[in-house]
Amino acid sequence: MDRSLTVLWMTDLHLLSDACDGPDEADGVRHGVLNMWRGPRRLAAFVERVNAERPHLALCTGDIIDSQTLWRRHVLAHHRELAAYAERLPHPWPYEDYDARRHLAHFMEGWRALDTGVRRELTVGNHDVMALPRDELARLLEADDRPWQAGSPFNRSVVLEDGRAKARFVLVDSSLGADPLHWCYTGTLLPETLAWIEAELAAATEPVVFLAMHHGPHRAFARDPHGGDGMTTQFEPAGARALAAIADTAAARRPDQRLAVLFGHQHGNRVLTRFDDLGPALPGYLCPCLIDYRIGKGCRITVEADGHYTIEEVVLDEAESAARR
Ligand SMILES: [Fe+2]
Ligand SMILES: [Fe+2]
Repeated sequence: MDRSLTVLWMTDLHLLSDACDGPDEADGVRHGVLNMWRGPRRLAAFVERVNAERPHLALCTGDIIDSQTLWRRHVLAHHRELAAYAERLPHPWPYEDYDARRHLAHFMEGWRALDTGVRRELTVGNHDVMALPRDELARLLEADDRPWQAGSPFNRSVVLEDGRAKARFVLVDSSLGADPLHWCYTGTLLPETLAWIEAELAAATEPVVFLAMHHGPHRAFARDPHGGDGMTTQFEPAGARALAAIADTAAARRPDQRLAVLFGHQHGNRVLTRFDDLGPALPGYLCPCLIDYRIGKGCRITVEADGHYTIEEVVLDEAESAARR
């Protein structure tokens, strides 16, 4: 029976939970293109959409919570050589009682409210791993039901299947090996992570495989669209090249199998965008940031039985007034 698979995908919620309660106009809750105040509302909008559509998978690619205040405080206290760098960062959130566990608990209220018939999977972003150790993150995010793979509980490989439609989602922790003094801002793929991905691809029999990771290996939009030419790489180059080589090998072995990267992290995007700079075997898709200042979007992925897939953006929250744009 020909059926199709559907996935609702969101990224970069940067939830600050109750710290964001207050008037929309409050100073200090906006950081670049992020509207921190909207976090709880955007999470609720995602949950509402998932429960209305009941897709096969609800997917999150990290930066679930925000942690810049925590990181900045740590650097200022312990790394004087980086203090000037930290001082130049955008205005920190005015919340001295930062508690990552509280924000994660708020996220889990929404995540648990997803229809029980909908599978849910997540991996973490730089803000998440800067806030808490991975074992605690996994426990609090209820992602500790499987053994660690390639150094992280957030390296996970799952197969969706409905009728003849099948797809594999390889969720990758792209912050392993990243520099914590620089906020794990640049994505990395350790040799063991690359080996694990390679093994997953070699074993995958599904017609389409998505690598879902927080940082994207492609050259994509800058974090702040007002800050430069709009394009940059926020990934360690050798890891990106190695991943592209693995994709080329996989494509030569299985030319009928489609492979793509799903990523977030770069907030300068307000629309779903495809990147092809790593070659035809490894297109990359950057999901709009859910906590974007102007509009909250996610993506819907549809996979047909023959492996063809479509990815389209989905508006989840569009309430900001034109006056604030
Ligand atoms: Fe982010
Ligand atoms: Fe990020």
